[in-house]
Order: sequence, then C-alpha cells, then structure tokens
Amino acid sequence: MGGVDDETAEEFRALLRGLRVRDGGELPALDPATAPDEPLPLFRRWLREAAEAGVPGPHTMTLATADADGRPSLRTVMLHDADAHGWHFGTHRASRKGRELAARPYAALGFHWTALGRQVRIGGRVTAAAPEESAADLRGRSPAALTAALAGGGRQSEVLGSYGELERAFEAARERVEREPDATAPSWTLYVLTADEVEFYQEEEHRRHVRLRYRRAAGGDEGGGWLRELLWP
Ligand SMILES: Cc1cc2nc3c(=O)[nH]c(=O)nc-3n(C[C@H](O)[C@H](O)[C@H](O)COP(=O)(O)O)c2cc1C
Repeated sequence: MGGVDDETAEEFRALLRGLRVRDGGELPALDPATAPDEPLPLFRRWLREAAEAGVPGPHTMTLATADADGRPSLRTVMLHDADAHGWHFGTHRASRKGRELAARPYAALGFHWTALGRQVRIGGRVTAAAPEESAADLRGRSPAALTAALAGGGRQSEVLGSYGELERAFEAARERVEREPDATAPSWTLYVLTADEVEFYQEEEHRRHVRLRYRRAAGGDEGGGWLRELLWP
C-alpha cells in the first residue's frame, strides 16, 4: 500500500474510534421482573417511546432474508403494523426479498433506536397476505407510495436501463394516481412475520446491558405461550 493510502486508512480508523453511538444522557431501564409475558406489548411500548423521544424513522427496520442456498441479504423497510398476527411490511413480490421469501419463508427484523440505547430483533416465519389485503395495505398509504409502487410495476431489484426510464415511469404513474387514486399495484404484497423469537436489548451505563429474549414455547403456535430468558450481553 502507498503512503497516502496508509495515512487515509489511519485517518479513517481514527474517525471510527472517535465516534460515539450516543451523546450521553440518561438511558431508560429494562426491568426483566416487570416485563410482560409476551413480547408484543413491550415492542409496541418501545416503538411508541422511540417515536416520542424523537428518534428519526423509529418504524424503519432492517429485514434479513436468505436465498435458496442460505446466503443472507438485508435491506431497510417500513413497519406497517405489529399485532397478534405478527410484524407487517409491504414490498413487491418479484423483488429480491420477495423471491427469497418465496424460496425460504423465514426472516429476521432489526430495530435500533440509538437515543434510547435500544435494539430489538425478531425472527420467524413469513407469510404473504391475500391480494385484497395487500391492496388495502397500499390504499392506506400515501399517494407518493402508490405512485412509487405503480412506477416500479413489479420490476423492483431488476437492472434499470437508464435513469430516464425511471423518470418516465414515475411521470406516467403520477398521472395515473391523479386520475385513479384507488389504482392497485398487483405486485405489491403485504407480508406478515410471525415471530418465534423476539429479543430486547437495553444499553446500560457501564455496558452492563440487559438482553431479554422471548422464545415461543415448544409446541406453541400463534396463541401459545412464551419463554423469557436473560442472555449474557
Ligand atoms: C428508510 C427506508 C424505507 C424503506 N421502506 C421500504 C419498504 O417499506 N418497502 C420496500 O419494498 N422497500 C423499502 N425501502 C427500499 C429497500 O431498502 C430496498 O432498497 C428495496 O426494497 C429493494 O430490496 P431488495 O432488492 O433486497 O428486494 C426502504 C428504504 C429505506 C432507506
């Protein structure tokens, strides 16, 4: 490696070492003794607290899937709901993630709410909702979201020939949404991840972090009970 490269590499490492995850301030506590019997109420509380604390995009999450050979890939998507059925998100069925989910219907979700020192990860099986439910999901979103969904026309993750092509597709989709605000994008699919594992991580001053994992009890299904365990941080 040349000298300039070495210096740049050192500066980059110094930058990384100098960065802090948070600017200090008090952290909330996670008391395992008072945690609910199941993960959903705690997740919803933490999401609300992240929103109220001003965490930007608290409802954005990392979604990890794997291809048929088990090779993982991830991307950011938005959480549309979290209820007794699971964690809901929307995307195009023919996208890379959509194809991976068709081949292997398991995924993991990750949230990191920096200001609160909190991380949540969720793993489980994913099912695609029926077309009518998927259409209702998209109808409930903004005109801009519908425009983007229509412009893509189910080509998400394919190679784009030129940026001009994308601009023309968006223009056509914008005009269509004006004429037809209830248009549907057939490739748009609502997915629901039914969790079998949810882990809450609360940073603690002195790095004595709390990790609380919920695992669906053996033989349990959607209505079944949960095991609660602490994990070494
Ligand atoms: C903040 C943010 C939110 C996003 N939300 C979504 C979403 O809800 N659905 C979606 O399909 N893509 C969303 N994306 C784009 C995805 O990250 C990704 O680029 C796209 O879905 C293609 O992923 P794939 O090629 O792995 O299928 C979002 C990106 C960002 C940065």
